[in-house]
Amino acid sequence: MECFGVVIVYGLNYTFNYTINQTRGDESMISQEMEKELNEQINRELYSSYLYLSMATFLAEKNFDGMAQFMKVQAREEVEHAMKIYHYIEEQGGRVLLKGIDEPPSDFTDPLTIFEKSLEHEKFVTKSIHDLVSLAVDKKDYATKAFLDWFVTEQVEEEATMDGIVNKLKMIGDKGHALLMIDAQLGKREGH
Ligand code: FEO
Repeated sequence: MECFGVVIVYGLNYTFNYTINQTRGDESMISQEMEKELNEQINRELYSSYLYLSMATFLAEKNFDGMAQFMKVQAREEVEHAMKIYHYIEEQGGRVLLKGIDEPPSDFTDPLTIFEKSLEHEKFVTKSIHDLVSLAVDKKDYATKAFLDWFVTEQVEEEATMDGIVNKLKMIGDKGHALLMIDAQLGKREGH
């Protein structure tokens, strides 16, 4: 009987391994390199979310509740960006590999520096998206190229939003009343 039991356990193991091998690897419609780079992009989007959440809590602590709300919505959008890529990798038969997310800075100076840092970060993300597009074109991976087009457009919007806020903050300088007006305006941002 003991022997029979072992055979059953072995049989189950075999079936399990067979199933795994059937659903991964060879059937992927994206190259391993593209899969790796898309996984890196998931990490960058999740880090973006961490960064904006960290900025949000700093702003809330300084009583800029509207800007804090703006950053919380931005943080949620970044998770959505990560999930778009996550689902795309799965749809293409690839493997999502989640890595550790770096710790974001937690100490900032003032709203202007925060939004300047945000703009700088969005430029970095834009470059990483463009690098992914270049890789897709090099690999003649037109499905991934088409998928990434949404991100290219989204980055134009994200940079323009951050740039607009930076410019307004520069214009008003340290005029308290105007700063509060911008804070109220940014607080109207709603998530979707
Ligand atoms: Fe998803 Fe703001 O880059």
